[in-house]
Amino acid sequence: MNFQEFSDIHRPLLEDTLRHQLEPVTVPTLQKAMGHLLGLGKLFRPLMALSVARACGHDALGSLVPWVTPLELIHTFTLIHDDLPCMDDASLRRGVSTVHREFDEALAVLAGDALANYAYLQIARHDNGLPVAMRLALVESAARATHMVVEGQVLDLEGERRSLGLDELIELHRRKTGALFSTTCEFGAILSGCDDDRIRLFGELGSEIGLAFQIRDDLLSLTSTDGEMGKTLATDIEKNKSTFPRLLGVDGAERHLDKVLAWVDERIRSMTLEQPDVLLDIAQNSGRRRT
Ligand code: IPE
Ligand code: IPE
Ligand code: MG
Ligand code: MG
Repeated sequence: MNFQEFSDIHRPLLEDTLRHQLEPVTVPTLQKAMGHLLGLGKLFRPLMALSVARACGHDALGSLVPWVTPLELIHTFTLIHDDLPCMDDASLRRGVSTVHREFDEALAVLAGDALANYAYLQIARHDNGLPVAMRLALVESAARATHMVVEGQVLDLEGERRSLGLDELIELHRRKTGALFSTTCEFGAILSGCDDDRIRLFGELGSEIGLAFQIRDDLLSLTSTDGEMGKTLATDIEKNKSTFPRLLGVDGAERHLDKVLAWVDERIRSMTLEQPDVLLDIAQNSGRRRT
């Protein structure tokens, strides 16, 4: 099976679960703002977590959906805040108005806060059917990643004031994008009952897939339009941000990406997984995608 076929199978339940998870939000405006972008993105992270579980031989992926959607809640919170006027000042996200444009800035800040918290509620709640040790492992992994994303965003903003070296840029991207990808792979492994060594290997793998994803994002920012990507692209160039193509040139960035993707492919194949087909495809898609 390839990534597209896998996505076609699992997307409907992921979208449905994301919608239902917001039902207990009792203030209607907040519920609307929290849900404004949900389900409109690629759902790359929850799908990748499921593909890791498939690779580990898990045979009831549908049952894992309520515990991988929190990855999307966290991701969406980071995007809502990233788009704010004090950050990237973007007007378009996932093909629709950004949350602060659709509602207002205060509600966008609060919707982001609420989504982040909601993610942990879904993972940690005592009645979610997971053993305590598994819930704790998921919370720890997600909390570490969320903190690293915030660190990455601070480095990203600082990088608008000076040009970064390649090592600094890689460190930034490992935090800003790689950390949540690392947790995404860890989620798939934790939910499949893998041991700590295996979980660590998946975490390292996710970090590299996240790096590939971000290098492709830098390249797409140069060649795509806002309409094709469904988001405001101009801010990187306007703000003079350090990006892979800026540092290495387009060809150099493509070559760097090839190396990362080759490492990722090799790593997955070396792990002797039960059903690595979708994970192999999704990993390559992180660096070869067109949106
Ligand atoms: C956007 O993430 C932010 C980056 C890390 C580049 P995605 O490209 O996964 O965005 P959605 O979730 O599909 O909207
Ligand atoms: C998105 O980062 C937010 C995070 C990864 C936390 P960017 O600002 O680089 O990405 P886009 O272009 O807005 O999606
Ligand atoms: Mg940004
Ligand atoms: Mg941005």
